[in-house]
Amino acid sequence: MWDVFLSYSRADAERVRPLARALRDGGLEVFTDETGVESFAGISDTIRRELSCSKALLAFYSTGYPEREACQWELTTAYLAGLGEGNPRRRVMVVNPELTTHHIHPVELRDARHASADDLTALVRDVRAHVGRLDGPMTLKEHRVRRWLLGTPQSRPEFLGRLSELWQVHSALHAHAAPLVTGRASAHAVQIRGMAGIGKTLLAQEYALRFEAAYPGGVCWVNGESYDASVHALGTDDLHGYFDAIGEPFLWIVDAAPAHRLAAREIAAMAAPHPLGHTLFTLRSRAYDALGTPIDLGPLDAPHARVLVGGDEALAGAVDGHPLALGLLGRAVRAGHHPGTLYDRLHTRGRSLLDTLADEDVTGSVVRDVDTADAADVLRCATALHPLPLTTDDAAHVLAAADRVPRIVARRRAANGVRELRARSLLTPRRGRRLVTACCDPARLAPPRPGPRPHRGPAARGPAYAVRPPRPGDPGYAGLARQPEGGTHDSAQRVGADGRLRHPGRAGHAHRGAGAGTGHGQPA
Ligand SMILES: Nc1ncnc2c1ncn2[C@@H]1O[C@H](COP(=O)(O)OP(=O)(O)OP(=O)(O)O)[C@@H](O)[C@H]1O
Ligand SMILES: [Mg+2]
Repeated sequence: MWDVFLSYSRADAERVRPLARALRDGGLEVFTDETGVESFAGISDTIRRELSCSKALLAFYSTGYPEREACQWELTTAYLAGLGEGNPRRRVMVVNPELTTHHIHPVELRDARHASADDLTALVRDVRAHVGRLDGPMTLKEHRVRRWLLGTPQSRPEFLGRLSELWQVHSALHAHAAPLVTGRASAHAVQIRGMAGIGKTLLAQEYALRFEAAYPGGVCWVNGESYDASVHALGTDDLHGYFDAIGEPFLWIVDAAPAHRLAAREIAAMAAPHPLGHTLFTLRSRAYDALGTPIDLGPLDAPHARVLVGGDEALAGAVDGHPLALGLLGRAVRAGHHPGTLYDRLHTRGRSLLDTLADEDVTGSVVRDVDTADAADVLRCATALHPLPLTTDDAAHVLAAADRVPRIVARRRAANGVRELRARSLLTPRRGRRLVTACCDPARLAPPRPGPRPHRGPAARGPAYAVRPPRPGDPGYAGLARQPEGGTHDSAQRVGADGRLRHPGRAGHAHRGAGAGTGHGQPA
């Protein structure tokens, strides 16, 4: 039996060596994984075997630690083994070799007592004391006995990043502070919210796969769009009795809760049908605070966005870290298309590049739920200005100019539009009152169908740029201020004859100009 399973990233091997030596010199039996399993569809048998012979895991939690998949599996497994015994920190200790702690997840491990690598003597003393209180190795849950009671989501090897969100989901599902408005007050419910394609479903799947050991009662994957048919597959009408008989905590995922067509109470009624259930909703709307603890999913962080898109930073930035768009572009890059060409196509008139790559109307689906004229108009303003942020005032200016209505009327419409877009996760607050479009194809993202006032599409774009010229500190200011087209900074000239905003191109790639023809390597 090992006293300590030392978990560390291969890149830290040199830094870990003195620590391992000090622990062994202190009389502890230490397992170090020398085989270096680098990527996982799950934890390897060897690691499981050694973990199940270990009293506790000691994580050398450097900033590189969370990036190594195998480390996360080791940590999560030991954490869940402790959770099964009633204290998730019982089987996990952390050494933090960094000056700050914000890279450590879950948060409750940040104040672990063994947090300093500076004083090895004190550290060894602490570790000895901790394992001295444990009288046997950790017990791991059965392996490969997937308790998917409903639906079997496949593992998605392309999943990247989102580490902090995975732990946030877990912590929120296990907090005791999320009573539902359903009468099932003891249920724990969490809602992952965000715009279409931002990665809600993938996050929920990955959570279920990585943390299933926390749910010995099983995992149920329910499609929110066809709830009754989904649940029917359990083969019982007495859901409460079904889970009562199982008698253990289970995870109940309601994916794609149809917030656009059902009231809050009806969605809340889709929650786990038994108090032992932990409910995870995914939905686009931000309008249902009472449904459960919200976790708002934003863009993928820049380093992972770059990986997903195939390495090109500008291309990743052009779609605002939107995972669906990044994935489509990344696939095109891997198929041989040049990132610069893709970037230019993204800003060229005509059918959206993303729709072409996906061979379906993905940009339309992003904005399909926008159903009021005010929201559609504000979205036009926001996409015309992108990447400049806008305020409600900016939008009111544009609407007043485009419609020739009094400011007070325009202001009210702008406020209504902003409110609706925020609720639908299509506008995100940033830097105080400024809002940015959380969209994947800003150049093309217009409201889905002609609204009651379709003439305002082109009409809104000219005034949009005129009232809100680029300012220092704006995202993309340098590129916008460079203003290549016509070599002028006169905002009026940035708008083409059709009233359409021209994009200024980007550093590092020759700009083709709007409407440029198809070039070599360009997707059809
Ligand atoms: N963390 C991630 N790593 C890699 N790719 C991702 C990630 N998240 C999302 N994607 C990519 O984006 C696509 C869309 O993600 P997902 O289906 O989870 O979006 P969603 O938010 O559930 O959208 P919708 O509201 O339409 O259901 C995925 O199929 C995948 O290609
Ligand atoms: Mg989804």
